[in-house]
Amino acid sequence: MDFESVRDKVVIVTGGGSGIGKSIAVNYGRHGMKVVCADINASKGEETVDLINEKGGESVFCHTDVGDSESIERLVKSATERFGRLDGIVNNAGIGLGGFPLHEYSVAECENILSLNLKSVFSAMKYAAEAILKFGSDGGFIINIASVAGLVPQSGQSLYTATKHGVVGITKSAAIEYAPYNLTVNAICPGYIRTPIFGNAPKEAMQYFSSCCPAGRMGTPKDCANLALFLASDMARYISGASIPVDGALSAGARNLMQWKKQASEPGS
Ligand code: NAI
Repeated sequence: MDFESVRDKVVIVTGGGSGIGKSIAVNYGRHGMKVVCADINASKGEETVDLINEKGGESVFCHTDVGDSESIERLVKSATERFGRLDGIVNNAGIGLGGFPLHEYSVAECENILSLNLKSVFSAMKYAAEAILKFGSDGGFIINIASVAGLVPQSGQSLYTATKHGVVGITKSAAIEYAPYNLTVNAICPGYIRTPIFGNAPKEAMQYFSSCCPAGRMGTPKDCANLALFLASDMARYISGASIPVDGALSAGARNLMQWKKQASEPGS
């Protein structure tokens, strides 16, 4: 595949200091994109910027709290001041929350996750779309990192599921609005991806996540970064309003008992 079309595009990646966002930012930098890495954690964000710049790329850090709309407005302004334009944004920063039935979550937890996982995406789309249109990008793109929980609800995750369904919904609506302006809007829906978002989850839990997945393993941040690169490229100009799982078939449907008529070789052999 030819990713030459992404060279020199200016992109913001929120939550670029860790996990999926870091992998997306580094992959963009490696392909010649100018990357504004936004994160609430300055040392992690700077680490990503150093990784890109050490390899000859061009990246700057912008301290940002996506829970604060004014902070996002400042982020977009500083990106356009620094690079003179904006071509795309990856709205990746977000938090996980799970493990309890709905009535055991507090109203404060609800407000916090709505703010960090959904209102943040609205604000970032708003200010980024304004800038992308204003500076007349010829290959504008918005990528929202949703989740398989935005496609298939999961027990114990009512609030997280609600925010990610919201992200999928706002992606589709905005895609229709911006299609006439050649600005694509898509969502990436990761399954279980091995990142620090799982905190100190016990080994048994991580094994459970792997075994849930038809592919037999958790995904890697690079699995998501590959799709984010494709969606930023000119090869994807006619793809908009899509919510694409990166999940080793986790959200494709339920598994059932079956026998092989012909012997398959062992998975992974
Ligand atoms: P992570 O925890 O490794 O990274 C999240 C990054 O966001 C960190 O650098 C953190 O400092 C930053 N961040 C957190 N709050 C912020 C704020 N208020 N303002 C700015 N930055 C903030 O997480 P991971 O796994 O890379 O997740 C990234 C996105 O992918 C999230 O939206 C998450 O919901 C989504 N996702 C992750 C999955 C997984 O299995 N890891 C599965 C499905 C979706």
